Amino acid sequence: MDAAILTDRATAMRDAMAGRWGPCAVAYSFKTNYQVAALPLLRDLGILAEVVSGREYAMARDLGFEGPQIVFNGPHKSDEELRRALLEGPLLHVHGGSELERLVRVATSLGGPFEVGIRVAASLPYFGHSRFGFSLDDGEADAAVGRIRECPALELTGLHFHGLGDTTDPQCHRLAARKLAAFAQKSIPGYQSALRTIDLGGGFPAHGLRPHNREPESWDPRPIDEYIEAIVEELAPAFPEATRPTLILEPGRYLVNDAILLVSRVIDIPRSRRDTRQVVLSNASISMVPLTHYTPQIIQAWSPELELREGELRDSVLYGASCREDDVLQEGPFPSVEIGDFLVYCAVGAYNASLGPDFIFESPPLVVL
Ligand SMILES: Cc1ncc(COP(=O)(O)O)c(C=O)c1O
Repeated sequence: MDAAILTDRATAMRDAMAGRWGPCAVAYSFKTNYQVAALPLLRDLGILAEVVSGREYAMARDLGFEGPQIVFNGPHKSDEELRRALLEGPLLHVHGGSELERLVRVATSLGGPFEVGIRVAASLPYFGHSRFGFSLDDGEADAAVGRIRECPALELTGLHFHGLGDTTDPQCHRLAARKLAAFAQKSIPGYQSALRTIDLGGGFPAHGLRPHNREPESWDPRPIDEYIEAIVEELAPAFPEATRPTLILEPGRYLVNDAILLVSRVIDIPRSRRDTRQVVLSNASISMVPLTHYTPQIIQAWSPELELREGELRDSVLYGASCREDDVLQEGPFPSVEIGDFLVYCAVGAYNASLGPDFIFESPPLVVL
């Protein structure tokens, strides 16, 4: 991992938010890469923790994050985890009706009032309609506001949105912000003084290749400023400067994806009469780069002397070293390689390490440069 790239992404996002909006925080989505979460780097930069389970919450606390430095999301929080959260003061986002009922009970038993936020959802282009959160489209979110208002132990101070799908189009983030602002104005009495946080989740692209399920014209990662600008332009009319809540974003892949490479080596080039392609066996495995199923990878070949293998491309197949027949890392044109060459997978920091089990081989360690 190149620490300078991670630092660049974190500060670029925060500077854009601070410059255009004012009070703001970046909360790193822990599940995107636990090896990165465990480093002091992001916490030292003042980045908050975004967690989606009691286990991740406990991890953040053990790493030294105080309750208020944690955003606690996720669809499955036990009563005991809700209780701990109410007592320790993370920014708690309720994700649905039955969790809200349990929270009302737990909060009432503790006294309160406790500040909470609600996750909301809406039908939006590319983002779709998430199954998590109270829908803005059918009165669910209004009912949640009403339920919190009638509970003396709870106080609604936050709104949260995170889209379902992948998009690189800042207009999708714009529409999400527009819906949130309209909802706050229409449905939260005294919203300007009531709301302390507006959290627009993650979903900001990094620089990997276009996912398999996206059409070419729909994939065009933009500089982070363009996403922030779109969000702020929609929120600003509803919140004059003196009343602005803290704007929170929860990037995962935008923060960590580009900063991390996977370095593997060519261990064999078996010749076969049945397969006339260049057959390359490396000591990586599809379980180390499971997102290969979702997006093609950027793979470079380097000689042991660190010269980039360029030149003519050959029809090739790159196999991983596990015993699964389908351990295929890439098929198609690839430069000629030799045993001992390095195969470098670029921009693989998001989700691969946390989704990849120790399958047959140890997971690759993270080396920070
Ligand atoms: C609630 C929430 N916030 C943030 C993220 C991070 O998303 P991304 O990696 O797209 O930035 C996710 C990912 O699924 C999420 O579910």
